[in-house]
Amino acid sequence: MRTLIQNGTVVRSEGIQRADILIENGFIKRVATSITQPADEVIDAEGKLVFAGFIDTHTHFDLDLGVTITADNFVTGTRAAVLGGTTTVLDFATQDRGTTMQDALDLWHKKAEGSSCNYGFHMAISEWNGERAAEVERMVAQGVTSFKMYMVYDAMRLNDGEIYAALKHMNALNCVAGVHCENYDILNERIHELNSEGRRSPAAHPLSRPNEVEAEAVARLMRIAQLAKTPAWVVHLSTKEGLDEVRRARARGQEVYLETCPQYLVLDDTCYSQPDAEKFIMSPPLRKPADEDRLLSAMGDGEIDFIGTDHCSFMMSQKALGGGEFSKTPNGCAGVQNRPQLIYTYGVKTGRITLPQMAALLSENAARLFGMYPHKGALLEGADADVTIYDPEGRGVISYKTNAHHCDNSPYEGMKVSGRISDVLVGGASVVRDGKLVREGAGRFVFRRAAQRYRA
Ligand code: URP
Ligand code: ZN
Repeated sequence: MRTLIQNGTVVRSEGIQRADILIENGFIKRVATSITQPADEVIDAEGKLVFAGFIDTHTHFDLDLGVTITADNFVTGTRAAVLGGTTTVLDFATQDRGTTMQDALDLWHKKAEGSSCNYGFHMAISEWNGERAAEVERMVAQGVTSFKMYMVYDAMRLNDGEIYAALKHMNALNCVAGVHCENYDILNERIHELNSEGRRSPAAHPLSRPNEVEAEAVARLMRIAQLAKTPAWVVHLSTKEGLDEVRRARARGQEVYLETCPQYLVLDDTCYSQPDAEKFIMSPPLRKPADEDRLLSAMGDGEIDFIGTDHCSFMMSQKALGGGEFSKTPNGCAGVQNRPQLIYTYGVKTGRITLPQMAALLSENAARLFGMYPHKGALLEGADADVTIYDPEGRGVISYKTNAHHCDNSPYEGMKVSGRISDVLVGGASVVRDGKLVREGAGRFVFRRAAQRYRA
């Protein structure tokens, strides 16, 4: 089977080039100024931008929080992902206490059956001991080379000593580990203070976790990683103060990778005074316009590595399980479909980042750090034919009504976006044509190799 993408503008981190792309049996066969070989399928990409398929570094599909399960599972979540131009998601397989990483991995493989985009798993761990340490090598042998640790959540949190030991052990096996950075003791104390003042509504959520709560935890992680002599990776960075701590660590010579999310770039904490404020309850919370501005500048300056959505969707009825109390409301929001359009609109169109930076932030950097490059994240001969074609002339308005998410709300409801996803190929198969889903279930597990630590 041969597919030819003709007349497109190919966007890569190193630059922009007008080129044709020939795909054969799921792989990129040739990239050249003009390809005239016959093909079974021809896609005319005149006037459109052709990217290596986008990679979402942070999703939570089918995650059981105990009180409730996320609204999107892999079938609905990955359907929305491909419609939004994402060809690979890295979801967090979650090892609950009393279970093994192998249990979590087996379970996540089952959950992911029927996915419409490719998927890999970071392993989120909830405890650190000799047994878990022994499992890391077994995860690597099964294509899982990245891990996550939480400084928060009673059921998940690790203490600083455990994080230090885990970082050392994982690094010795060429793995990377991301950390959710918030000071849990302080945020709990602040929740207690706010509750005792009767401030329980969503408006109090950002007050319980002010910028310093993230910045202190980021600073602590930087020092833990420095002592462990390992790289550090901060997941969903949301504050300018957290960014400053990373700058200090990098200035000391530390190797730090940074993820942020669209919600921390385009939404702010005034959302918590809206009538449907529960839908914005997430951790970390939405911040101030000054934080958004600093993170956008940091993207333009090459300080941010990749953008994940932290897609963790709940219906409004699930959000209501908190009874209107912010500290009891399930945390998380929907967004896996909207990331490329938001980054194009609020990053590229506003001049904060260039198109090549968009390619790096949405695909290439993640492919490198998470052991998928150059099979993914690259429009190179021999790479997997995961391709996203973006029509910059398109226009849209984000709404939960038109999103394919299985979710009756969107934090981005009513926001205007420039450009639209035109065509998407996963492993050489057309899954989206002219904005419409034409094939489901084309996704495959991505067996990942050692991290390519490009900031080392
Ligand atoms: O509020 C969020 N982000 N929920 C998802 C879990 C996490 O902390 O990443
Ligand atoms: Zn998350």
